[in-house]
Amino acid sequence: MVIFGAGGDLTRRLIVPALCHLVRAKELPDDFAIIGVDHNDRTTEQWRQALTEATQDEAADDQVCAWLFERMHYMRGDFTEDESFSRLGKLLADQQAKQGSGNALFYLAVGDRFFGPIVDQLGRAGLARQSEKVWRRVIIEKPFGHDFASAKALNAQIRKVLSEDQIYRIDHFLGKETVQNILVLRFANGIFEPLWNRDHIDHVQITAAETVGVEGRGRFYEQTGALRDMVPNHLFQLLAMLGMEPPISFDADAVRAKKTELLQAIHPIASADAVRGQYGAGTVLGKKVRDYRREPNVAPESATETYVALKLGIDNWRWAGVPFYLRTGKALSARATEIAVQFRQAPYSLFRDTPVDKLPANILTLRIQPDEGLSVSFSAKRPGEEIEIDGVEMDFAYRDYFAPIASVGYETLLYDCLIGDATLFQRDDTVEAAWCAVQGLLDAWSRSAPDDFPNYSAGSSGPDAADRLIARDGRAWLPVKANHRRRNGGA
Ligand code: BG6
Repeated sequence: MVIFGAGGDLTRRLIVPALCHLVRAKELPDDFAIIGVDHNDRTTEQWRQALTEATQDEAADDQVCAWLFERMHYMRGDFTEDESFSRLGKLLADQQAKQGSGNALFYLAVGDRFFGPIVDQLGRAGLARQSEKVWRRVIIEKPFGHDFASAKALNAQIRKVLSEDQIYRIDHFLGKETVQNILVLRFANGIFEPLWNRDHIDHVQITAAETVGVEGRGRFYEQTGALRDMVPNHLFQLLAMLGMEPPISFDADAVRAKKTELLQAIHPIASADAVRGQYGAGTVLGKKVRDYRREPNVAPESATETYVALKLGIDNWRWAGVPFYLRTGKALSARATEIAVQFRQAPYSLFRDTPVDKLPANILTLRIQPDEGLSVSFSAKRPGEEIEIDGVEMDFAYRDYFAPIASVGYETLLYDCLIGDATLFQRDDTVEAAWCAVQGLLDAWSRSAPDDFPNYSAGSSGPDAADRLIARDGRAWLPVKANHRRRNGGA
């Protein structure tokens, strides 16, 4: 495995800890080795030392990472110079001579401006060439393009060197167990799928609420904004898993084809169906937060959105007429990523002569994080002589059924790439379909600057305009709460 960006944050926080977990689970082959490439001058020893600190827990526990660290080598190299790639080629050849396997996974844990150039260089140096016995794969991080045109251009550039089956575009949401579970919930159970359509579902809400602000990433975020940062990638992955047609198998292309079709069916988003927000000063979880515009490397008059809410329609037989409301934002009151599927109301007629004036809706809530689980709300008769109806809930929490596994969320993704299973990675047409769906809105927003920023306080649930967006249809957002049981007063 070759990690470009060996000295970076991603390598330290996620890739190496995930590899340690794979070592502990005995999922890595004995001839596994890592070459870390970065532009800083440092020795292999210094690189290992810096990473040891990041993986304290794993290292302290039965020395599992020692196994990994002795297989790690550092190479100083420039991501754009031929010379670095010929040295890398020699190292790979030495490795192959020593250990027999010429398979290589190149992980591009670098800024997106280097994706194209590194792949070009791999091609020029002959390092991407596969044979019957040897595979070469490339993992590409987010962001994959910053709009439809740039994503298409990047795909065209890398496809000159790599075939599609060598490319693994990461969306780290797909590394989450709860996201992978969406397909199991839908297709391994008989009770949900018959109801999973416009006849029974009133609407769907997808929420990714964060309490963090931009966390020192002002420079990146100013260019990106909440729409680009979260919607065509993470939220659309949730949307695709929830809304796709059943694939004919779990083969990577069978699954990805269905997801892509769903994204291609998204109705063009009208500006009237979208709300953007930017946070002003406030208090989040008891801590004072300053205006987004006063964060480091953020323009004092910044027009970058830190919140977005959308209403989407899906043009197909299953979903026509069912609105999907999506929202995501920074510096909100609680951290919670959830999908809520609200079913149509039961007919009222039976309860006409009772004190029941409004039946609570049946809602299936998929709690993606942090309080992983699933709940179904339904009506029950309150004990007593009168017919009184109350909303009650059945709840499944992961922690009640499954022992926690040490995970940073990248383990499955890395493992799948090593075994050549691309199901949880984005295909070229999936990425393009997602950008295509938001392109009209990106254009509209870049043409007209917002005149009401900041329009929500840090620590609130977002701008009032987002409430109006959904209230227009006679509906309301579900409250965002981090802890499900606390919300329902349960144990
Ligand atoms: C990243 C975004 O891709 O996803 C961040 O760039 C965001 O802005 C993060 O905070 C959210 O991921 P998670 O796994 O913490 O929900």
